Parts: sequence; C-alpha cells; structure tokens
Amino acid sequence: MKALQQLTKRLEDMEALDRFADLVQRVVSRIVPQESARKDLLSGTWLGRPLHPVLTDVVMGTWTSTSALDVLGGKRAEQAADQLVFIGTVAALPTIAAGLSDWAELWGAQQRVGSVHALGNATAFSLQIFSIKARRGGKRKKACLLSLASLVIAGASANLGGYLSFVKGVGVNQTAFENWPQEWTPVILAEDLAEDTLTPARADGARIMLYKKGEQLYALSDRCSHRGCPLHLGQVNDLMLECSCHGSIFRLSDGEVLRGPATVPAPTYEVRYQNEKVEVRRTLR
Ligand code: FES
Repeated sequence: MKALQQLTKRLEDMEALDRFADLVQRVVSRIVPQESARKDLLSGTWLGRPLHPVLTDVVMGTWTSTSALDVLGGKRAEQAADQLVFIGTVAALPTIAAGLSDWAELWGAQQRVGSVHALGNATAFSLQIFSIKARRGGKRKKACLLSLASLVIAGASANLGGYLSFVKGVGVNQTAFENWPQEWTPVILAEDLAEDTLTPARADGARIMLYKKGEQLYALSDRCSHRGCPLHLGQVNDLMLECSCHGSIFRLSDGEVLRGPATVPAPTYEVRYQNEKVEVRRTLR
C-alpha cells in the first residue's frame, strides 16, 4: 500500500511529463473547445454527472469478461470472447475522448497523474486492437495474452483514475460537503450589497455568493460544482452566471446548469432583507 502511495507521489512530482501534457492539452482544447456543445457532450452535462466514469464501466466490464472467457470458457466461448473484446474496444473510443476532455482541465500534479493514466489507457487500447487482429488471424493464444496484458494495464491505469477522483476530488461535485445553513442566517449588511455586483459572503462557514438586481436578490453557493472556483469571480448576463474558470453557466434563480462542463447545479439559497441585513437559508428542493 505504501509503495503504491510512493509511486503515485513520484508521478505527481515528475515535471518531465509537463511538456508532453502541455502539447496534448493544446491539441485536445482545440478539438474540444471550452464553451462548445462537444465539451458539454463529453463532460456529461446532459447526463447530470461526469460521462467518463460511466463509460469506463462498459470498457472494463467487457474486457474483463473477454479475458475470463479466454481463460475459462474453452472452445465454446471463443465467439463470445471475440464479440466482447470488439464491443469493449469500440466503447473505449468515446471513453478516451471523454477522459481527454476532462484531463485537459487539469494542471500541475493532477495533470501529471492524469497523463500517466491516459498513457496507460492508450497502451491497453492498442493491445486490444492487436488482440482483435490476432483473433481474426486465428492466432488465439497470442490474442488471449494480448487481451490479458491489456486488462492488467487498464486495471493499473484505472487505479490512477480512482486516485484522481477519490483522493484528489477530480470530477466530484465540489459543493457536496458544504455546511448549509438551514435556518435564516445574516450574512451581510443590506447597505453593503451593491446592485449588479457579485458579492461573496459567509454563512455558518458556507461560502455564499449574493447578487442584487433591482428588488430581486439571488444567493448561490460561491463554490463552482465543477472544480470549485469562486463563482463571485465570474460574470452575470441576463441573470445567468458564467464561471471564470471553465465557462460553465448557471441560472441565478435556481442554479441550473445551462452550459457545461459542470454537470451538477449550483446550490441555491432563499434570501431576504431582515433588520437591515441580508439573510439566507438553504433552499429545500
Ligand atoms: S470551476 Fe470549472 S466551470 Fe467553474
């Protein structure tokens, strides 16, 4: 366990990966630009959760089943194994595209680990292509070994993907652990809330973003659900708030995601004037 942690730490510190990462990142950003329908599609904005991890289940499931049939299934299972490896390898294409789109938003240590994750997946994918070729050429033993090697590499690579998500919090809803004030809580003096200005505030430790338009007040979590950037650094047009980091757009009235790459709505608050102060409490949905 400790060896695994040390290895991951070493990857995080490996600056030699940065040049490769910067180059690929530029290419990916050109093919999948921010603020595009392609970006929303690959991010999973339409799905309400990140697309990449959903697709990886299909790939890993079919490739694991392929090797299980190769090893244990005997002659009768050969056709099924061949079909499964083909399905998994086709499914790997959108999976890789979604992963690269997500990875292009990372930087520093996370980007380095993501680079190795991507290289591992590319190697696993290539081995399965060779395996399919070998299956079609009747070289079954070679094909089985290639699929098995691919599965081992994809498993190791998935471990890095899990590290990015579950240890580094990449791809998770950044507002999930906010400590919402359930009762009306004063956050700012009414006179300090300027018109048409994104104003940060705190309520019971939760970061809030306030916006006033005429008589109407709006309050959202100040943490973007996508990667956690402060929303008060964004800009508002027609009561839609654009995050300054990757361009996600949230509707001020209910926090709905109008444009990705965010997949989860911004938490909203009820807001009112009380005793010359502005008060908020979490909107119950
Ligand atoms: S942090 Fe990425 S869009 Fe807000």
